[in-house]
Amino acid sequence: MRTQVAIVGAGPAGLTLGHLLHREGIDSVILEGRRREYVEARIRAGVLEHDVAALFDEAGVGERLRREGLVHTGVELQADGERHRIAFDELTGKSIVVYGQTEIVKDLIEARLASGRQLQFEVSDVTLHELESDRPRVRFGHEGAEWELECDVVAGCDGFHGVSRESIPPDVLRSFTREYPYGWLGILAAVAPSNDELVYAHHERGFALLSMRSPELSRLYLQCAPDESLEGWSDGRIWEELHTRLGMEGWELREGQILEKGVTPMRSFVAEPMQWGSLYLAGDAAHIVPPTGAKGLNLAVRDVHVLAEALAAWYRTGKRELLERYSETCLRRVWRAEHFSWWMTTTLHRGPSDDEFGLRLQQSQLRYLRSSVAAATSLAENYVGVEAA
Ligand code: FAD
Ligand code: PHB
Repeated sequence: MRTQVAIVGAGPAGLTLGHLLHREGIDSVILEGRRREYVEARIRAGVLEHDVAALFDEAGVGERLRREGLVHTGVELQADGERHRIAFDELTGKSIVVYGQTEIVKDLIEARLASGRQLQFEVSDVTLHELESDRPRVRFGHEGAEWELECDVVAGCDGFHGVSRESIPPDVLRSFTREYPYGWLGILAAVAPSNDELVYAHHERGFALLSMRSPELSRLYLQCAPDESLEGWSDGRIWEELHTRLGMEGWELREGQILEKGVTPMRSFVAEPMQWGSLYLAGDAAHIVPPTGAKGLNLAVRDVHVLAEALAAWYRTGKRELLERYSETCLRRVWRAEHFSWWMTTTLHRGPSDDEFGLRLQQSQLRYLRSSVAAATSLAENYVGVEAA
């Protein structure tokens, strides 16, 4: 088997890359370990930056996104029982689109199948070879047989637990990590969202977030322990805790049937460099952010946008300049998002060993965001997506 670009992983990064390359007339093979149904049902992110939504639109996969995506021009921050709106449109001229990762993945898989290019689910034992050469190979198992795929470059889009990153020698790869002493308990509930916009709530019992997926579906999160067991969380207890943390005079949180529950631990992680030989890492394979800034999916899409343009320039002109700058270009944006996500997380969560000094700092910062246009603008431009300096 032979292709131009071998893509490992059919998450948002791998599928978007395959699509952008197809639009440039570049062939690729996407190899995914899981079943299609599993990949399409995996509930994760929900917020698209302004330019990321526009990118899907320009790439011809934005039809349903434009129809069903919920355009939001701000979010609300809650502290001390009061809500304060951060008006993205007024502060930055931009907005965000609430549209589930599950839906983007479905749209991209459909576009891939329509393109006639290869996407193989349920592959096993993926290994990368001869990455230092310009004829790298990917070996894998599929339907009981062993395969070897020869290509020009390998795109490692296989998420945090994938095999690609580990193919970079340990003396080349540097990792930067921060673990947080908390996680999120997330639910999907069959009830109309109780607020028009997202609410990020600071509370002494811990952070809470009100989000949504559609006019009929709410997505809500509670700060919990990173290894929290779901056993202690009956539906009744989840709603009670959400009422406590999101509650406000004159506002009612609507309850509904809980369709899904899960716990996500939180971490920050960056691998440098994002390229070695013929291997290019993109998305969660190279970096993780805690979800508080809603950046994970957006970073993944922006990485592969840079990569697709660099590959297109190389195939067109033979010049490697953009490819050589790939890691550096992406890492500048990645570190901006890392800082923003860390800052949102530590401003809004209460850690088990946080003291009163820490609490006073958070309260002061949240008051500052209410009173200062400069502070609110900084949050807004990072949230809608900023070009890193
Ligand atoms: P992934 O979506 O992880 O895709 C990688 C793909 O590679 C997967 O399909 C995987 O099955 C496949 N794969 C892995 N190993 C192999 C292999 N060896 N061979 C073949 N295929 C392989 N972000 C937010 O902004 N908000 C959120 O609320 C949020 N919630 C999250 C909850 C969870 C549980 C997780 C894990 C992440 C969450 N994120 C969230 C982050 C966001 O979903 C990710 O940043 C985004 O999915 C990154 O896309 P990706 O394509 O890089 O990686
Ligand atoms: C979500 O809707 O899943 C969501 C929204 C905002 C975040 C994180 C997750 O910051």
